[in-house]
Amino acid sequence: MKLSGVHVLVTGASRGIGSCIAEGATARGADLTLVARPSDALTLRAKALEARELPCDLADPGERADLLARAEQDAGRPVDVLVNCAGVDGVDGMLDVTAEAMRRLYEVNLLAPAELVRQALPGMVARRRGHLVTVSSGFSTVIGAGMTPYASSKAGLSHFHAGVRLELQGTGVRTTLVEPGPVRTEMYDDIEADGLAGAVMDRFLKLRLTRLMTPQEVAQQVLDGVEADREHVVPPRRMTPVLVFDWLPRRVAQLVLTGTPRR
Ligand SMILES: NC(=O)c1ccc[n+]([C@@H]2O[C@H](COP(=O)([O-])OP(=O)(O)OC[C@H]3O[C@@H](n4cnc5c(N)ncnc54)[C@H](OP(=O)(O)O)[C@@H]3O)[C@@H](O)[C@H]2O)c1
Repeated sequence: MKLSGVHVLVTGASRGIGSCIAEGATARGADLTLVARPSDALTLRAKALEARELPCDLADPGERADLLARAEQDAGRPVDVLVNCAGVDGVDGMLDVTAEAMRRLYEVNLLAPAELVRQALPGMVARRRGHLVTVSSGFSTVIGAGMTPYASSKAGLSHFHAGVRLELQGTGVRTTLVEPGPVRTEMYDDIEADGLAGAVMDRFLKLRLTRLMTPQEVAQQVLDGVEADREHVVPPRRMTPVLVFDWLPRRVAQLVLTGTPRR
């Protein structure tokens, strides 16, 4: 979907990759709604981009219950592109993580994006127009010590996205799954500083299976992907072979199931 003139809602827009996606979408002529927890950073970002801010703690099911409806009411128009980008890293290993930190991680990384997709779909399907962008991670496939809750939330998210894509065949609603490698943001700083997770990342970088990207590079690839209706975006491209092991069974199932009933 071309972004000029369309309404784009970006979660995790106060900093990092989400903030760069918002900036890039504005430059391409989109009308933006920015979601993150209430903060000066979110307000400043919204002011700078002449966008609407919609503060929300996505870990709170009550706060996110009617988020799409509120965004559409504030804007006076439906959401055309939903970018689920908010995420938390939670680099503690299972021996250290608290119950509350783990609950919040699964809420923000998995349940909130699924719920926002659920809220967005009836309108998008009725209009036969819409684009769902899911920012997952290369950790949807790769697992390393210290990353268990994070990687499992992203594995669930990528699988959720793949299922939604299948259900949407023939509806006119498009989807893009984004599975980045390491990106220089606050989240990456946390991962790098952690003994276990940092070592995993270090090894991948040393083996040149991936490279450290800037959030601006990732945002550009995401937005190009949306405008070109790309199904999958993997920044950097060199990481693709690592992820193919995960995609292959899905692709095969997709082919085998071609011709089964759909909308
Ligand atoms: N950085 C990497 O290396 C990397 C690699 C692969 C995938 N990713 C994925 O890319 C996405 C963006 O990551 P990033 O690196 O840009 O992280 P970041 O710089 O830490 O930004 C995370 C964003 O998520 C928002 N967020 C966190 N908790 C929230 C909550 N409870 N409610 C609402 N918003 C919340 C934050 O806003 P507030 O804190 O202001 O609420 C912030 O805008 C994530 O889904 C991440 O898993 C990142």
